[in-house]
Amino acid sequence: MKFFIDTANLAEIQEAQALGVLDGVTTNPSLMAKEGITGRDNIMRHYKAICDIVEGDVSAEVISIDLAGMIREGEELIEIDDKIVVKIPMTKEGVKALKYFSGKGVRTNCTLIFSAGQALLAAKAGATYVSPFIGRLDDISTDGIALIEQILLIYRNYGFDTQVLAASVRHPMHIIQCAEVGADVMTGPLSAMEALLKHPLTDIGLEKFLSDYKKGNPNT
Ligand code: E4P
Repeated sequence: MKFFIDTANLAEIQEAQALGVLDGVTTNPSLMAKEGITGRDNIMRHYKAICDIVEGDVSAEVISIDLAGMIREGEELIEIDDKIVVKIPMTKEGVKALKYFSGKGVRTNCTLIFSAGQALLAAKAGATYVSPFIGRLDDISTDGIALIEQILLIYRNYGFDTQVLAASVRHPMHIIQCAEVGADVMTGPLSAMEALLKHPLTDIGLEKFLSDYKKGNPNT
């Protein structure tokens, strides 16, 4: 399973990259705003800064809601760097944009997926990734992981190449559940990735190893 970090915070992206397990980045307009990145030129520069840190795909979201605008923005975004994947919302115009970009060989990420039907449409339109938001489904008492499983089954039935990118991951159990059901990618915060590291028995065990070593080697 690929690990993407879901942030526009450069320090967190650097930290995840340094860990050595990062495969890409997803951003969205809310995450950009959270970092105080406003204005088209600053936003474009920020995407470039992200691309300079990571080795994998970087999803950059269009803000237009009409087809012509999505195409214009997407074409500008892919000029920034080869790592850019055009992130397009699941709307009627968005499906048309996915089809347009897949015909041109441009990688896309269809965002705001909340149902299997939406994921099926996005795959038929040639999306590279679909992003079902599992955390936001869980927030309204709907099983986000069950949706990932359902989409994976549908894609397997017909051999779609579209990758299932589990988004809106909030905590380490989401990551483990995504891995159990076979999501292709998960995108979440650095805190959820780092939480995978933790186990109290690891800490206790390490402390014991180090204190035993010290007893045997008092002068080191
Ligand atoms: C996906 O690409 C989105 O950026 C993201 O995962 C949304 O997560 P949230 O529900 O925590 O805002």
